[in-house]
Amino acid sequence: MAQITRRDLLRAGLAVSASTLVENSTFARANSLLAGLPGNQSANANAALAPRERLLFDFGWKFFQGHACDPLRDLNFGKDQGDFAKSGEFDFALGKFDDSKWRPLDLPHDWAVELPFVDDDLLESHGYKPLGRRYPETSIGWYRRTFDIPKEDNGRRIFIEFDGAFRSALVFLNGYFLGRNDNGYAPFGFDLTNLLNYGAKNYLVVRMDASFGDGWFYEGAGIYRHVWLVKTDMLHLARWESYVRADPKGGAANLDLGTIVQNQGSSTENCRVRWKIRDAAGKTVATAEAPPQLIAPDSTATFTADAKFEDDALWSPETPNLYSATIIVESGGKTRDAEQVTFGVRSLRWDADKGFFLNDKPVKLKGTCNHQDHAGVGAALPDRLQFYRVAVLKDMASNAIRTSHNMPTPELVEACDRLGMMMMCETRAMNSTPEAIAQLETMVKRYRNSPSIIIWSMGNEEWELESSETGFLVMREMVARTHELDPTRMCTCAVNGEFDKHLPQALDVMGFNYNLDAPDKYHAAHPKQPCVGSETASTVSTRGTYSTDKLRNWVSAYDANHPQWAELAEEWWKFYAAREWLAGGFAWTGFDYRGEPTPYGWPSISSQFGIVDTCGFPKDNFYYYKSWWGHEPVLHLFPHWNWDQREGEPISVWVHSNLDEVELFLNGRSQGAQKVQPLTHLEWKVKYEPGAIEARGRKDGKMVLTAKRETTGEPTSIRLTSDRTEIDANGEDIAILRVEVLDGVGRVISTADNLISFKVSGEGRLIGVGNGDPNCQESDKVPKRSLFNGLAQVIVQATKNPGTIIVEAYGEDWPPPRLPRVTLTITTKPVTPRPFVA
Ligand code: GAL
Repeated sequence: MAQITRRDLLRAGLAVSASTLVENSTFARANSLLAGLPGNQSANANAALAPRERLLFDFGWKFFQGHACDPLRDLNFGKDQGDFAKSGEFDFALGKFDDSKWRPLDLPHDWAVELPFVDDDLLESHGYKPLGRRYPETSIGWYRRTFDIPKEDNGRRIFIEFDGAFRSALVFLNGYFLGRNDNGYAPFGFDLTNLLNYGAKNYLVVRMDASFGDGWFYEGAGIYRHVWLVKTDMLHLARWESYVRADPKGGAANLDLGTIVQNQGSSTENCRVRWKIRDAAGKTVATAEAPPQLIAPDSTATFTADAKFEDDALWSPETPNLYSATIIVESGGKTRDAEQVTFGVRSLRWDADKGFFLNDKPVKLKGTCNHQDHAGVGAALPDRLQFYRVAVLKDMASNAIRTSHNMPTPELVEACDRLGMMMMCETRAMNSTPEAIAQLETMVKRYRNSPSIIIWSMGNEEWELESSETGFLVMREMVARTHELDPTRMCTCAVNGEFDKHLPQALDVMGFNYNLDAPDKYHAAHPKQPCVGSETASTVSTRGTYSTDKLRNWVSAYDANHPQWAELAEEWWKFYAAREWLAGGFAWTGFDYRGEPTPYGWPSISSQFGIVDTCGFPKDNFYYYKSWWGHEPVLHLFPHWNWDQREGEPISVWVHSNLDEVELFLNGRSQGAQKVQPLTHLEWKVKYEPGAIEARGRKDGKMVLTAKRETTGEPTSIRLTSDRTEIDANGEDIAILRVEVLDGVGRVISTADNLISFKVSGEGRLIGVGNGDPNCQESDKVPKRSLFNGLAQVIVQATKNPGTIIVEAYGEDWPPPRLPRVTLTITTKPVTPRPFVA
C-alpha cells in the first residue's frame, strides 16, 4: 500500500502542518472510501419498478409539540377519553383543521436533539433531554402532511411505510384512526387504499409519544427515519417476502429464490413470476421462472425457483460485490408488479475450533458496537451520514458492526453492504411474546438479502432470562423462528453474567459480553459451540485530553481507563487475538453516543466509550486498533505538545504503531528507540520543553513514517474543510465540515477551544453542529460552536435547487483576537431527486 505523503495531502488542501498529518489523512481517507457513490444517498435498495411506485414521503411536513397529559394542549386529543373506534371524526386529520401555525419541516426529524439539557437524574440514560412523564410538554410530537392522490390512482393499492419512529405512533388519515406502533425501531406501515380521497386532498397525521423508552441510551424522539408512499397494482408482491439465497459453489453461484404474491383484486389471476439477476455493471447473469399459479381474490401464493450463474464475484469487506434480483409479476399478458432486491454471494461458517469463516477463509471479527445517533442531528441521520460513519470505522480497519441494541436503519445496512462491513444485526426485544416475535420477523425479512449481515443477535443482557429456564424456552423459540425465515445464518445473543446456565444452550453461537475470565471455562465445557465476543472493551477516554480530571468530567485519552466491568483496548484485543476459536469481538463502542454518560454523570451528556467521538473524530485508541487490525503502516504520536507552564515536567509520550521500531526525538534530540511489541503501545517519559516531538518509524531497517507534534502559537485564523465541495441538489445530500483554528504560521492548534459562529446562505441550510465534547451543553442547532480540543463539525444540507451553498465562519471570542471571517463555497449540482411525494 503506497504511503500517503504530506505532499499528497498538501496537494489535496488537507494539511498545513505535520502535527495534523495523521488526523487529516483519516478524514480524507474516510471520504475517499465514499467517492463515487451515486447520489450520495441510499441507492434505494428494494427499489420500485414500474408499475410500482415508491415515493419518498419526507418533505413538507408540519410539526406541533403537544402535551402528554393535558388534552387541551394536545389538540383536544383524548378529551372525554376520546373514542378510537369512532369513524372519520378526528378533526386534526381533516381538511378543515388549521395547521398554519405549525412548524414546517422535512423528515427525518428528531425533536429530542432540539430540546435543552435538564439536570434531572431520571433523564441521565437518555442524555438529559426532557422526555418522559415528568416532562409532558416536550414528550409529544404531532406530524401532519397534506398530500394529493390523483384520480387515476383509484384501483391501485396504496401503502404508507415508516422505516422506524420513536415512539408509540398513532396514525390517522382523513379523520380515521389507522393504527398504532409501539416500539421505536421496527418499521411499520398501513394500507391506505380504502380511506384515501382520490383526485383530492388527503390529510395524514402522526402522533408520536416519547414518554417511554425502549432502551437505556439516547433514542431520540419523532419520525427519525424515512417514510414512503408505495403504490402498486391490486396484484402485487407482498412486503419483504422476496428472498435470494446465494450459495457460492466453486466459481459458480447457486440461487434459491422465493417470493409471495398477493391478489387484492376482485378476479382470479393466472400469475407467473420471473427473476432477472444482474451483476453490478447491469449485465444479466441469470434468469429464472416459477410455474404459473392461479391466485383467487384476497389470497396469496408462494413462488420459488432456482438459478445458477458462473464466475460469481464474491462479497467480502475487501470486495463488496453486489448483485441485484428483479422480481417480476405477470398476469393477463402484462407486468403487474416488480421490485429489485440487492444481494451478494458469499458463504458463512462458524467453527467451534477455528472461529468464523467468510468464503471459506478464516476472518477475525474486528468489530464495534454502535448506537445510532450522531452529533448535531441526534437520531435523524441523513443517509450520507450513515455512509460516513461506516467509512470512519473502515478507516480504522474495523470489519464488523453490531447494531446494538436494536434493528438498524435501512441505510446503515445498505452502507455496510456497499462499503464492505460485516454486521451482527440485533433485535430490540428479546422475548417470545407476539410483539417481540413480530419485531424479530420484521428484522429478518427486511434484511435477509443483505450480504453484510453475517449473524442475527436475539438481544442483549436480559438478566432475568439469561439465568433462567424461561430464558432457554424464549431463546429456543426466537432461534427457531429466525431459522425458519432464514436458514442461512446463525443466531447469537449478547450474554453477560450467567454464562453457564440455560439460555446459552439454545444459541448457535455463544456471545460473551466482557468477563475475560469466562470464555476459556465456557469453551472447555462446551467445545462444540462457536463463540464470539458480542461486547467487549468499554474503554473510556475523552478525545485530546491527557489527564483524568474528575472535576471536569475528563478521562485521559491514553488507553488507561475503564469501568470496573470492562477492559482496556489492549487487554481485550490481546485476549481475543490469542484464541483462534474465538471469532473475534465487538468493542463497546465505535462512536460515542448521547446518554449513558459514563464514567461521569451530569454535566456529561454523552458516553465516553467511543473509539471516535460523536462527530467521528478519532481518539488516540483509534490508532491502536488501526495498527493491529489493519495492514497499512501506522505511526501515531501523542499527546499534543502545548504544555504551557509545565516546562521540565515529565509528559507521557505514546506511540501506536505496527512498524518494527520507533525512535522519539525532542527538538531534534533522540529520546531513544524502542522495538514495537505486537499488540502493544510504546511509551516514553519526556521532560517538557516547547518545540516539537517527532517519532520516526522503521520497518525492515528503513524509515517509512514520521509523525510530529509541535508547540503551536496563538490562534489567528479559522480553517473550514468540507468532505466534498460538490453535493447533490436533491434536498437530502449533506456536506460534512471540519472546523479548526490555525496559528500565525498555519499550524492547526489541537488544544483550541474558540467559539466559532457560522452563517449558511444560498441553496443549503445548517442542520447541526457538534464538537465531540461529552460535556458540552451548547445547542446542536444554533449556528455556533466551541471547538473542543481543536475540532468542531458542521453539517449542511442541500435544497433541491442547484446553485451554491456559502458557509461563513468567524470567531466571537472576547477579548480579542477575534478570528476573521472565512468562507467556504459548496456547489450543489442538478440531479434528479429520487421520486417523492410533492
Ligand atoms: C453493557 C451494555 C451496553 C452498555 C455498556 C456500557 O453491559 O450491554 O448497552 O450499557 O454495558 O459499558
